[in-house]
Amino acid sequence: MRRLDQLLANLGYCSRREARDWVNAGRVTINGKIADDSGRKAEAASVLVDGEPLDHPDGLLLLMHKPIGLVCSHDEREGPNVYSLLPPRWRQRNPQVTSIGRLDKETSGLLLLTDQSALVHRLTSPKHKVPKVYRAQLDRETPADLAALFASGTLQLDGEKTSCSPAVLQMMSPLEAELTLTEGKYHQVRRMFATQGCTVTALHRFKFGSLELGDLPAGQWREMPLSHFDPA
Ligand code: URA
Repeated sequence: MRRLDQLLANLGYCSRREARDWVNAGRVTINGKIADDSGRKAEAASVLVDGEPLDHPDGLLLLMHKPIGLVCSHDEREGPNVYSLLPPRWRQRNPQVTSIGRLDKETSGLLLLTDQSALVHRLTSPKHKVPKVYRAQLDRETPADLAALFASGTLQLDGEKTSCSPAVLQMMSPLEAELTLTEGKYHQVRRMFATQGCTVTALHRFKFGSLELGDLPAGQWREMPLSHFDPA
């Protein structure tokens, strides 16, 4: 049970102050009866606003095709962000909708977003070894033994305390690689290839755990059941 004003504010409808006005205007019902006090506690499932059930009161999990050019940071100073693609109400939620890990501004592909901080922690922790698969275009051919080096777990990136966990490299053509990582160090794919003098000219993530991007167009997202990542 939560206070009505808190519920509406946390789900991004309005401020707690405005919630009082919404209640006074008769816009909110609890179990079919017009609510008369914004401080009243209620189960989210029993509340309607303007006759409609509350918007995802139990949380959100979204699978987005991140386009190139948007950042995953909420800091507006870093430029246009992926959250600008979401409905305004979801951008006002508290806890905030945030990405599960990040993709660089210049990287496209599968990005998960949620307001469930426990899920963020679980899926970004290297301990859980969730595989993420990237397709990278390279500016030059890679050394023949690169797959063995990436798989070895010994590759050290500048400024990192720990070496890269074993990663699976598959060359699809001389300048196109698929790389599977189970961790997410800063700019990791680009930096791993850079250790060999190779520049990644395009980077796209198409798999995260068992989830695939499929043919979801860039800039679009679809909802996922929160239960998708429930521990078995
Ligand atoms: N590695 C990168 O270099 N960039 C990303 O966005 C993700 C992984």
